[in-house]
Amino acid sequence: MSVIQVTGGVPLRGEVRVTGAKNSVLKLMAAAILAPGRTTITRVPEILDVTIMSELLRRLGCTVEHDIEAETVTIDVPVEIEHRADYDLVRQMRASICVLGPLVTRMGAADVAMPGGDAIGSRGLDFHVQGLRKLGATVESDHGYIVAQAPNGLHGASVYLDFPSVGATETVLMAAVLAKGVTVIDNAAREPEIVDICEMLIKMGANISGVGTSTLEITGVESLSPVTHATVPDRIVAGTWAVAAVMTQGDVFIRDAVGAHMDLPLSKLSDAGADIEIAFDGIRVSMDRRPTAVDVVTLPYPGFPTDLQPQFIAMNAIADGVAMVTENLFEARFRFVQELARLGASVRTDGHHALIKGVEKLSSAPVEATDIRAGAGLVLAGLVADGTTMVHGVDHIDRGYCHFVPQLQSLGAIISR
Ligand code: EPU
Repeated sequence: MSVIQVTGGVPLRGEVRVTGAKNSVLKLMAAAILAPGRTTITRVPEILDVTIMSELLRRLGCTVEHDIEAETVTIDVPVEIEHRADYDLVRQMRASICVLGPLVTRMGAADVAMPGGDAIGSRGLDFHVQGLRKLGATVESDHGYIVAQAPNGLHGASVYLDFPSVGATETVLMAAVLAKGVTVIDNAAREPEIVDICEMLIKMGANISGVGTSTLEITGVESLSPVTHATVPDRIVAGTWAVAAVMTQGDVFIRDAVGAHMDLPLSKLSDAGADIEIAFDGIRVSMDRRPTAVDVVTLPYPGFPTDLQPQFIAMNAIADGVAMVTENLFEARFRFVQELARLGASVRTDGHHALIKGVEKLSSAPVEATDIRAGAGLVLAGLVADGTTMVHGVDHIDRGYCHFVPQLQSLGAIISR
């Protein structure tokens, strides 16, 4: 079991580069199933979730090559593929659910293990299931699997999502591209990663309008062709570097970060006192004082991303003042606060609100990452804590951050694994 050991007190200085977004690349890989032949995805991050997704596609019958140096994944998709995503993979990565839509539309059937804790109709998968049913699939649960069938293909339909769910938008979108007729998704998610998938699907020959808005109109086509597509840069990883620069009072150029995808987090950092320069090839973030506390409310894009919430709580923990952070997507994310408290943070939670009173200094302690972003938040806290903090649960960080420790070392941090 790896542990990250980080000694606080060094301002981060220098340059880091962000690669493609985890939350896009996994879906781009799933979209490859829609077209027989060779799809190449570039700007692929070297993260554990890509390895799991590669294995999932291999079990469906695809040949998958991940060239780590070149940051590419090539996926050779045969005409006939399997349609089962096994529990041992899905339990490691919830995002495996993203093969559901592509499989049912291309093969007329999909058996996808349910991620732990979910049942059909439960919060977490209900919008996916309702959407596919609207398109004409039968969807049932059987021995822990979602079994979707559409032997005669899917048809277009009007799908209104109760909530702009990223995953449900993707499931319906990827199913609708090969359905007969027109599908309209209302209250669709608008995340840059959704735009990225739409752009790849359009290159493949899909007919989609309204890209980047909350109404997507998809006219189904007979077939799609394989393409080469570059993954959108990871705005959450970029945001994590930005917060790290601010917390350590450093100066970091985040190469390939896209400022337009990070309006709200960057404006919050600017409210905290940071100097932000947005260039065509990245973002420079510098800070020369203790940050000022900033309130944050997580919401679907273009609202503040839940995936940066723990990092902002970590920043507020050492800020001047009191901040209220409201989590509207995943309440369980506040479990992270108990770990942060071990470092001396003053945080009280009530339902989906957290009240953080900034302290002058955190102090090192052993802590445990409970998910990817909590892991990042704890490492950031360790960067400014007195002494040496040990962060356990590093495998969570590996799921979403590539070369996290070496990149921090290159910025001057005293950190090892
Ligand atoms: N929801 C339902 N029913 C559904 C689907 C979602 O009630 O059928 C609820 C969820 O319970 C949640 C909310 O809707 O409260 C939002 O869920 P959404 O479907 O938008 O999230 P997701 O697709 O499961 C993706 C990212 C998450 C990110 C969220 C929100 C991937 C693989 N995951 O999850 O990323 O937090 O969108 O932006 O794309 C992470 O990277 O650390 C991460 C958790």
